[in-house]
Amino acid sequence: MAELKRRAAVLISGRGSNLGALIAAARHPAYPAELALVLSNRADAAGLDRAREAGIPAEVVESRPFGRDRAGFEAALGARLEAAGIGLVVLAGFMRVLTEGFVAAWAGRMINIHPSLLPAFPGLDTHARALAAGVRLHGCTVHFVTPGVDEGPIIAQAAVPVLPGDDEAALAARVLAQEHRIFPAALAWAASGAARLEGGRVVLDAPMAGGALANPLPGGAGLPTEIP
Ligand code: GAR
Repeated sequence: MAELKRRAAVLISGRGSNLGALIAAARHPAYPAELALVLSNRADAAGLDRAREAGIPAEVVESRPFGRDRAGFEAALGARLEAAGIGLVVLAGFMRVLTEGFVAAWAGRMINIHPSLLPAFPGLDTHARALAAGVRLHGCTVHFVTPGVDEGPIIAQAAVPVLPGDDEAALAARVLAQEHRIFPAALAWAASGAARLEGGRVVLDAPMAGGALANPLPGGAGLPTEIP
C-alpha cells in the first residue's frame, strides 16, 4: 500500500537523533508516512549524514545568507518542499522561527517536537529552566504548528520525573529517550489521520494512558498510600 503513504519532509538544524528515531520507525512496511526528504538550514548538521546513510534525499537550504529575510528563506524552503511533492512537514530540532505566512500554508500539515511539557517552557534551554523552576515532572510534546513559537494543538506528551542530583545533561537524556518514543507515533497518527485538527484541538484515535505518573511517590515518608 506504499501509494497511500503521506510524503513527509523532516526539517533539522543539528544532531538529528529524532530524525534517527523517525527513520527507524518509517522502515516498518505499515508506517503511514514516507520520509521523502530531509532539509537542513545548516550544512554542518550531523543529521544530514543519518539521512544519506538511510538513502533519504538530504538537502541544505542555508538560512544564514538570508539574514533577517525570513520570508525569503522560507520561499526557498517551500520551493524544495513543493518540488519533492511533500504533504507533511516535520520539525525535528529545526531551530528557526517561522513566519505566519509559512505556518498558514502548512496549517494542520506541520508538526513539531519540543523538549518540555508545553505550555511550560517554550523556547530554548528548557531543561535548565525546568531545573531552576524546581518542577518534579518534565517531558516533551509533539504538536501541530501554529504561529506562536512552540505553540499549537497538542498531539502527544510524555512526562519524566526530575530526580535529586539531576543536572541539565541527565534530565535532557531522560527526556530525549521519550522524544524518540512519542515522535514516531505522533507522526504516524498525523499521517494516517488518526490525529486531526477539529475546532483548533486535536482529535486522536489512539489508546490513552490510564493512571498517573507522580513524583515523588505518594505513600513515601511512612504515609499510607491513600490519605483520606
Ligand atoms: C530535541 O530535543 C528537540 O525536542 C528540540 O531540539 C532537539 C533536537 O535534537 N527542539 C526544540 O527545542 C524546538 N523548540 P535532535 O537533533 O537530536 O533531534
